[in-house]
Amino acid sequence: MKPLAIIFLICTALLGIGCTDPEVPVTFDETPFPFRTDNLPDPILPTDFPLTQQRVNLGRSLFHDGILSRTGTQSCATCHSQIVAFSDNRRYSIGVRGIAGTRQSMALVNLAWSRRGFFWDGRSPTLREQALHPIVDTTEMDETLDNVVRKLSTSRLYRDQFVKAFGSDTVTPERIGIALEQFMLTLVSGQSKFDRAVAGFNTLTESEERGRQLFMREFDPTYKQKGAECFHCHAPPFFTNDRFMNNGLDDDASFVDLGRERVTKLASDRAKFKVPTLRNIARTAPYMHDGRFSTLEEVVEFYNSGVRRSSTVDPLMQFNLAPGLRLDEQDKADLVAYLKTLTDDQFLTNPRHRMP
Ligand code: HEC
Ligand code: HEC
Repeated sequence: MKPLAIIFLICTALLGIGCTDPEVPVTFDETPFPFRTDNLPDPILPTDFPLTQQRVNLGRSLFHDGILSRTGTQSCATCHSQIVAFSDNRRYSIGVRGIAGTRQSMALVNLAWSRRGFFWDGRSPTLREQALHPIVDTTEMDETLDNVVRKLSTSRLYRDQFVKAFGSDTVTPERIGIALEQFMLTLVSGQSKFDRAVAGFNTLTESEERGRQLFMREFDPTYKQKGAECFHCHAPPFFTNDRFMNNGLDDDASFVDLGRERVTKLASDRAKFKVPTLRNIARTAPYMHDGRFSTLEEVVEFYNSGVRRSSTVDPLMQFNLAPGLRLDEQDKADLVAYLKTLTDDQFLTNPRHRMP
């Protein structure tokens, strides 16, 4: 082998340890991140650690890196895959021990506007706090924070990234959380067909437009006009009201997951869950906190005729209870067609969100 080739091999093996140019020191760099809101109003972003290009980049590397898991094989993106709006098409995701969780993975979309807590039950008050839970969860990445800190500290590439992002190569759980938070805050989706239609750049088909009207209209008990009531909880432009509610999936006898009650200990919060955004909903099947529905048609039929009465079902569901909304086949197809206009391909394929 030629001497040069040998040097190259050694360098590759040491990955930077001996080969980075000592003349180019890595420095702290606070280039503001150009936060894009698409067509959405400005969010409230963290002021203690303003979004910087370097911190977002670090968060993006961490999000896509198996190094956060015990086995090195599972990253956040394993259960939050970009092409399905950072969710998981499995009903219950499988952790590194091969054990399945008990809730469906959530889509990560427009979290910069989510202010009342994270997870289906809202148990995490902030994203930076939330981001550390999956690392230590035994049904997910099953790693300790000490180990993660140790592994990242021995990587020259990561140490450099911490310098650029935070001003020193000290790796701490707090900094890991902040970096992951910064990346997740940049996951903005507001360029769907629906948004372009609102902005006047295209028009919805007849069926999509009928679906939109049904979605946005209240039920009329005199049956003069049909309405599907969806907007109360899934109002544009976010298609969520950022609250915890019970939409009537089960009755008191059949509640399995206590939802929000697990956090507040209030019986009045039993089986209430975070109202999910419907942006990119055509891609994020299966649906609901337990992934019980596999298609949007099933979801619409549930709201039409399957909503169940219970002690905590939301009063807004009153017309969904039997005899139900009385939507016909065309109405249901139109609603589904409208929901499909919320798919934002630019978001789902944006190279800035991909593995770096
Ligand atoms: C094994 C699969 C799995 C892995 C790995 C995983 N998640 Fe999740 N994620 C889930 C599930 C399931 C939920 C819902 C859990 C619940 O509500 O109890 C969730 C919820 C979330 C939420 C809440 C979203 C909201 O709207 O409230 C965020 C944010 C999130 N995950 C970020 C991450 C980050 C960051 C990582 C990596 C450090 C990660 N996840 C790793 C499965 C996973
Ligand atoms: C009273 C508030 C409320 C109304 C009205 C409502 N929803 Fe929901 N929606 C929710 C809640 C809460 C969930 C999550 C429930 C769970 O998983 O336990 C949800 C979940 C969904 C989901 C699954 C999302 C996912 O990521 O899994 C879809 C799709 C959906 N709703 C569509 C609709 C449509 C279409 C309408 C009108 C026909 C509607 N919703 C009316 C509160 C509401």
